[in-house]
Amino acid sequence: MNIAQVDYDGLIPNNVALGQDERVKRALEKWHPGYINWWNDMGPEGFQESLVYLRTAISVDPKGWAKFDYVRMPDYRWGILLAPQMEGRKVNFGAHKGEPAWQEIPGEYRAMLRRLVVIQGDTEPASVEQQRYLGKTAPSLYDLRNLFQVNVEEGRHLWAMVYLLQKYFGADGREEAQALLQRRSGDPDTPRMLGAFNEKTPDWLSFFMFTFFTDRDGKMQLEALAQSGFDPLSRTCRFMLTEEAHHMFVGETGVTRIIQRTCEAMKAAGIEDPNDIAAVRKLGVIDLPTIQKKANLHFSLTLDLFGNEISTNAANAFHAGLKGRYREDRLKDDHQLESGTYPVLRLVDGKIQTVDTPALSALNMRLRDDYVGDCNNGVSRWNKVIADIGIAFEIKLPHVAFHRHIGEFSSIHADADGNAMSDAGWERRRGEFLPSDADKDFIESLMQPQFEPAKFAGWIAPPKVGIDNKPGDFEYVKIG
Ligand SMILES: [Fe+2]
Ligand SMILES: [Fe+2]
Repeated sequence: MNIAQVDYDGLIPNNVALGQDERVKRALEKWHPGYINWWNDMGPEGFQESLVYLRTAISVDPKGWAKFDYVRMPDYRWGILLAPQMEGRKVNFGAHKGEPAWQEIPGEYRAMLRRLVVIQGDTEPASVEQQRYLGKTAPSLYDLRNLFQVNVEEGRHLWAMVYLLQKYFGADGREEAQALLQRRSGDPDTPRMLGAFNEKTPDWLSFFMFTFFTDRDGKMQLEALAQSGFDPLSRTCRFMLTEEAHHMFVGETGVTRIIQRTCEAMKAAGIEDPNDIAAVRKLGVIDLPTIQKKANLHFSLTLDLFGNEISTNAANAFHAGLKGRYREDRLKDDHQLESGTYPVLRLVDGKIQTVDTPALSALNMRLRDDYVGDCNNGVSRWNKVIADIGIAFEIKLPHVAFHRHIGEFSSIHADADGNAMSDAGWERRRGEFLPSDADKDFIESLMQPQFEPAKFAGWIAPPKVGIDNKPGDFEYVKIG
């Protein structure tokens, strides 16, 4: 069997020879109806019968793995796709560095590994739930299609984690796989596991910010798990990352197009001052200070996903060879980190200070710093658009101490520059940093659907090129 090719014969497309694995095949076939029920209940509302121009993976070869066609979303061929096994792959870090990568789970690491897989798995359906009402206000058919592409792929990422649970974790894996279909984003009784995945995604600016900031956390976590000494996890994450790249693209270009439209409208109307919010809003576009506030919100919520600054869980997972650093295989050090330190921003006697910390316990911060760097690359591309049009404004990521709910800085209030604030000061000035009710109302007032081919809502510029090189008037979604 050619591992790069996907077998589409059975109910569950796969490249893991599921046909020869009766036990797992049966377990997944049993899980499947529950998944479809979940998708029908919690997937995109109002568009389940629409024909959507979607890509489906037909191979795991990075060149040309996708095929585009019109699909009803409930008929999407979700499947199990692992990147090809690498001959002679080794554990690349931690205490087992140099041993052959594991094809089965070492007994001692079972619980730790299950937790990593369940937490990753829980985020995938959560974002679909958060985004389920957005279709109704899509600014174009192009954007509607991109939303649905992201949604079906998050569904497939759930399949990816469920496959690992069913194949390698026996009865408790099956239980966890069921529980992944039962928790609900934002539900007071059975919420999703992580805070940012219980927040609302009420409008399209939020959606683009979410895919830019929060899907990028997903990318970082997948990069770290792709380094895993447990080979099936590594292979799963490597293929997921090829899909994740599109989610980053949707977020970055979505915000870019909003910024571009705002700046062009300001120029055309002769408005020089980006802080003249009333004048800018009269043009029916989103003012740059409000875009900044949305970035502050989504960035700070996403930082919480990296966990505590000092973490024994992260140290243990690295030591065990289960979760590496960002691009571990390209780093030049001993890959064991038993000695050495890493600088971590901490709260010392009420002051924010850099503290050299044992490198192993600082791994969450290392990943978070790599994340912030990756975000900043995207933000500077946004700023280039603003500068090229000639508006004097720069989007800036807030300080890591700003608006935090997890870790060192959750006990203080800080402004966007990281200056500590009193409770009263924070309450008074909160609206300078985070979207106010008035900001939300204004954005909501713009969220009117535009479902005509070739047309775009007035607050967002058209994309430079179509998906799959389609022309501008292509009907990406036949709503029906
Ligand atoms: Fe995902
Ligand atoms: Fe994603």
